[in-house]
Amino acid sequence: MPKPPWVTRLGTVPREPLASLPSPLQPAPRLSDALGIEIWVKRDDLLGLGLGGNKARPLEFLMGDALVKNSDVIVTGSGPQSNWSMLAALAARRCGLDSIVCFYGDRPRESRGNLLLHGLIGTDVRWTSESTRESVDTMIGSVAESLRQDGKHPYVIPRGGATPRGSLGYLVGAEEISSQCRDAGLHNATVWLATGSCGTQAGLVTGVAAGLLSAVVGVTVSRPVEECRSRVLEIAQAAAVLAGTTPATANIVTVLDGYIGGGYGVPTAEGAAAAALVLSTEGIFLDPPFCAKGMASLVDAAAQGSIAGPVIFLVSGGAPTLFVEDGAL
Ligand SMILES: Cc1ncc(COP(=O)(O)O)c(C=O)c1O
Repeated sequence: MPKPPWVTRLGTVPREPLASLPSPLQPAPRLSDALGIEIWVKRDDLLGLGLGGNKARPLEFLMGDALVKNSDVIVTGSGPQSNWSMLAALAARRCGLDSIVCFYGDRPRESRGNLLLHGLIGTDVRWTSESTRESVDTMIGSVAESLRQDGKHPYVIPRGGATPRGSLGYLVGAEEISSQCRDAGLHNATVWLATGSCGTQAGLVTGVAAGLLSAVVGVTVSRPVEECRSRVLEIAQAAAVLAGTTPATANIVTVLDGYIGGGYGVPTAEGAAAAALVLSTEGIFLDPPFCAKGMASLVDAAAQGSIAGPVIFLVSGGAPTLFVEDGAL
């Protein structure tokens, strides 16, 4: 089959290979039996950068751009247990760049999970001493400005790497899933995932608009659902311009609400039960902040009969947060 022209165009966008691709697409027969619908798992927890995770895909395009622009240091930020910041710092090392990471709050007495890994990587970590996420955005701006004044060339990446360029990583992911579905004889599958900063869902939705995937369902685990819907659409439409694909429309952006619980990073009982089910049936760990909550919504949807299957659940990583005690995110 001849490739559509946008595939050639996407191939010209700067990209640094960081992930081990393709990640496996595996059937989940015992989980399927338990939920009564056909379920497959896309193992982006096995992407091969650090301990794996979805952020390796956007980082390929973001680091590619940073290198083309002759940047010498990346500046980004988040919460201290963010998988994003840890993988960004690691990707910077792989590309020979420095990294400065800004976290909200103050340094805790003990470093666990991703914060511990930052210590091993030797990331330059700065703390805002404020509890708001916006304080991170402000600090990223001021750190970058002072680096410029010192003659450095910082490459600034917003929290989560959720930019149109970053989301191209999951347009590539959509193409990969589409080809794996063809090989497996899997038709009309819905991709199901946890949504945070929205870049991952935006890339997959761009894949729906390009005719690569049938449907994508995101489950918000941090932001208000309406904010997610508009962010996903906005990022997806700008990504389509970069890639030369058909832009997404609002009707293909589905974000479910009701699984955030006590807030971002606060584990829920339904999430823990869903993660335990996946572990006992398929031997796969789901992280509490993202995948566990996303799976809780899939368990409910299957029980309510609101999804018929087949479903491809995106196991998006987050292994380091399995080593952080409840509520310590
Ligand atoms: C493990 C994991 N899964 C899912 C997500 C959600 O991805 P996005 O922020 O692109 O919505 C994240 C974001 O950090 C993550 O770390």
